[in-house]
Amino acid sequence: MADLSSRNPDWWRQAVVYQVYPRSFADADGDGLGDLRGVTQRLTHLATLGVDALWLSPFYPSELADGGYDVTDHRDVDPRLGTLDDFAELVAEAHRLGLKVVVDLVPNHTSHRHPWFQEALRSAPGSPARDRYVFRRGRGEHGELPPTDWQSVFGGSAWQRTPDGEWYLHLFAPEQPDLDWGDEEVRADFRKTLRFWSDRGVDGFRVDVAHGLAKDLTEPLRDIGGIGATGEEALLRVPPGSHPYWDRDEVHEIYRDWRKVFDAYTPPRSAVAEAWVPAARRALYARPDELGQAFNFEYLETHWDAGELRRAITDSLAAAHAAGASATWVLSNHDVVRHASRLMLPPGTDPAAWVLSGGTAPAVDPAAGLRRARAATLLMLALPGSAYLYQGEELGLPEVADLPTEVLQDPIWEQTGHVRKGRDGCRVPLPWTSTGPSYGFGDGGAWLPQPSSFASYAVEAQAGTAGSTLELYRTALRLRRKLLEGETLTWTPNAPAGVLDFRRSEAWRCVCNLTDEPVPLPPGEVLLSSAPLSGARMLPADTTVWLA
Ligand code: NOJ
Repeated sequence: MADLSSRNPDWWRQAVVYQVYPRSFADADGDGLGDLRGVTQRLTHLATLGVDALWLSPFYPSELADGGYDVTDHRDVDPRLGTLDDFAELVAEAHRLGLKVVVDLVPNHTSHRHPWFQEALRSAPGSPARDRYVFRRGRGEHGELPPTDWQSVFGGSAWQRTPDGEWYLHLFAPEQPDLDWGDEEVRADFRKTLRFWSDRGVDGFRVDVAHGLAKDLTEPLRDIGGIGATGEEALLRVPPGSHPYWDRDEVHEIYRDWRKVFDAYTPPRSAVAEAWVPAARRALYARPDELGQAFNFEYLETHWDAGELRRAITDSLAAAHAAGASATWVLSNHDVVRHASRLMLPPGTDPAAWVLSGGTAPAVDPAAGLRRARAATLLMLALPGSAYLYQGEELGLPEVADLPTEVLQDPIWEQTGHVRKGRDGCRVPLPWTSTGPSYGFGDGGAWLPQPSSFASYAVEAQAGTAGSTLELYRTALRLRRKLLEGETLTWTPNAPAGVLDFRRSEAWRCVCNLTDEPVPLPPGEVLLSSAPLSGARMLPADTTVWLA
């Protein structure tokens, strides 16, 4: 059995971490927006579920230009979400329940309302206040053109002009100016932030846009030309480490510096990189003298296909082991279409296009999607390394793809000129009860409308109900804790085509049938199955079993 206690400095290596998107989790003060007291009141849900840690997406003061990832003060709590005292209570209660707390750190950019950026706007070009960000003169006779062709991830140019004519860089929304990590004051301030939360009992950090902090700002700035602006494909077109602003080699120096701060605590603070980079480069962020872990988005992006999944699993384990890191697995988060819907999309379907169609092209059968999602989850929870769950997946929630456009909050909708609806469909507030104005989310409604189908997904409807998705997660996590040992797996030779079959140990074998037909069920006691089994020792389609 794995030791996940505080005494173990490696508690995170095989932990199950539950992501809380605070504004959509639970609303204690009834203003329609989730808050920290709401999280604290519902922590027993996490303890009963059997996860080891919670990761809180940003709860810092924010204008909400990008769902909280536009931070005005990295060392405070948004007043709409509570206070630092509420945060202290949350941490104390989590620790009392045996849960670790991971917070999100947003070092690549601040909000445009951050005092530093406001000072920069008031200050003259070339001033130290502007040096904390990336301000440049434009091209063209009167500087009327952006300094480079760099593109924002959310669409359009990554440069915004200020009233005095200079331009500033924003790789995300214009309300999120990029910091210049070449500036020593920026570095020192973030070390202070790491210590601020570590001193308040935080056990680890999730590092937003970890691959974006180092930029090639040598003059003249280089255009990206045909390389492409975003995504791993762009990175595959250039020699590793040479894109002007993604995944540059110098970024690792920053994390080696942070490691010294993490290791000054007992146990050392853990960290996980959000880095959308090719697999071989991802492991660099996870080296033991850097962050320790990096999210494995390759696994998330893989279709429901045995060959593709096996390759993603094998490559990810090899890369993590070679770096001395532990592997990570994730199926859903606050940025992607929930896996109960996504896994049903035929290969080649762009999930964003599916959301734009209101979830109609193609139509997804919720029951079939849920069946596949449950099989995928049981597969993920059997893999060596740590698993990151996203709030609501334990209820089997589908994506809410048909949100009316007038309620959309994600900047992607406006910035792409209404070509992509964005990520609101996975951020709809959670249903806790089957009735009530916001299904138990709070007394004051919900900031994004919940569909009536949420009633049947509610925690209340599933708790104690045999066969429910919630009970499947609870049982799986309880068993996983008992069965967990080393960080390796052994593939069973000669598994039928379309079947993934591996052992973690003598006591734990996982078999997943990704074909459309039943396959013979290997011998062994069935510990858990993602779907009901017939008596005939067959493993139905889209089903995973754990065998002893
Ligand atoms: C990644 C976060 O997960 C996403 O929600 C956010 O929009 C960007 N980083 C920018 O901070």
